[in-house]
Amino acid sequence: SQHAERQRILDTLRLSRAQLLEVKQRMSEAIMRGLSKQTHEQASVKMLPTYVRSTPDGTEHGDFLALDLGGSSFRVLLVRVRSGKKHNVEMHQKIYNVPQETMQGTGEELFSHIVDSISDFLEYMGMKGASLPLGFTFSFPCHQSKLDQGILLRWTKGFKASGCVGQDVVTLLKDAVRRRREFDLNFVAVVNDTVGTMMTCGYEDPKCEVGLIVGTGTNVCYMEEMQNIELVEGDNGRMCVNMEWGAFGDIGELDDFCTQFDRIVDDCSNNPTKQRYEKMISGMYLGEIVRNVLIDFTTKGLLFRGKMSERLKTRGIFETKFLSQIERDSLAMRQVRTILQHLGLTKSTCDDSVLVKEVCTVVARRAAQLCGAGLAAVVDKIRQNRNLNQLSITVGVDGTLYKTHPHFSSVMQETLKDLAPQCQVTFHKSEDGSGKGAALITAVACRVKSGGQ
Ligand code: BG6
Ligand code: GLC
Repeated sequence: SQHAERQRILDTLRLSRAQLLEVKQRMSEAIMRGLSKQTHEQASVKMLPTYVRSTPDGTEHGDFLALDLGGSSFRVLLVRVRSGKKHNVEMHQKIYNVPQETMQGTGEELFSHIVDSISDFLEYMGMKGASLPLGFTFSFPCHQSKLDQGILLRWTKGFKASGCVGQDVVTLLKDAVRRRREFDLNFVAVVNDTVGTMMTCGYEDPKCEVGLIVGTGTNVCYMEEMQNIELVEGDNGRMCVNMEWGAFGDIGELDDFCTQFDRIVDDCSNNPTKQRYEKMISGMYLGEIVRNVLIDFTTKGLLFRGKMSERLKTRGIFETKFLSQIERDSLAMRQVRTILQHLGLTKSTCDDSVLVKEVCTVVARRAAQLCGAGLAAVVDKIRQNRNLNQLSITVGVDGTLYKTHPHFSSVMQETLKDLAPQCQVTFHKSEDGSGKGAALITAVACRVKSGGQ
């Protein structure tokens, strides 16, 4: 029957407990491979050192600029941190647009645009020409050998500006500042958004030692033992590692779980064969998976009475916010029908709406479970590092998908609890973004540099 046929297709997107345990196991192996000197080159999950060694302690202070580039909005911020008193941070921010042409044009254009925005922001704040230290949240994989340098390893998500891969993004930024001859940046710390988010949350909760992003992309950072980070000299204390877990699967770790829909989404992306785990989890891709399932159903006559709309064939038409809206909908299915109309599917029936909603549920559930399975590997690693039977830890989280989807976080937490029963994990949603954390990191670095405590 048609019903059985639909369920057979949807079943390929459903994961069993055994499969999720397998994902956890493979993530654990990927973590080890990324940390070890011998296997790092071939590893999918790069486990990048960040040169951030401690969470904030409340003594940091001063005025800092922060940039936040790589999520759904580009922001410039002024962060004022008062000394002595913790929880005393004042922030001013402005959101700037980054046009598609700029994200995918030349590096020079992209960085000039960033500097134009800083300049506009300084003027807006009445600080034209000021020279401040800057925390640069740059949400892409970077090789760092110190805090104020980051060599871009690859672009991910919607960015692909030319001439940047292999370059130090601090140099690219400073060159653009120099071209403009209007202000100076006296120190620039490069910070991944996961790290900024962990620091933002860590300012309030010292148990926050993991940062998670589930937004346009997905990624995790956590505090790892120095002795396990073979790429960095020294065995004392801890350092935050930017996992770049979105690349999990890039050497085949997810091949058994991928569906034909995942393969189409990957093929049609900016970066085929790369960021396979990210493409099954994050906001930039979930709508595309859903759209491809709907196309398949329609082609097979299992949906919309087999009548395809041109809109449905358009890439990117099924925005991730629809996923959240559809699932938040009541039984009346009014949202679903409105969205289907927007997709040019005006003659849909009630059964069509029910099915579309089911597709959204299945795709988002799989994403949340995969994310929970990966996190289970991370928190168990931390627990084993510390030789603990039970670990209690906080994860700082940010990202539009995590924050707006009605079920993502509960499904993720359920999976995590099941797969890492020895860890009590608290999730702390970041309300302040990663710019605040990036400024705190910059503050610590400036204090150390100037010889202060
Ligand atoms: C923001 C952080 O709040 O969340 C960014 O400040 C981060 O640094 C972003 O990249 C992730 O979410 P999204 O949905 O905007 O990609
Ligand atoms: C992508 C980036 C990573 C970032 C994540 C979330 O995976 O490569 O650096 O943390 O998106 O924004």
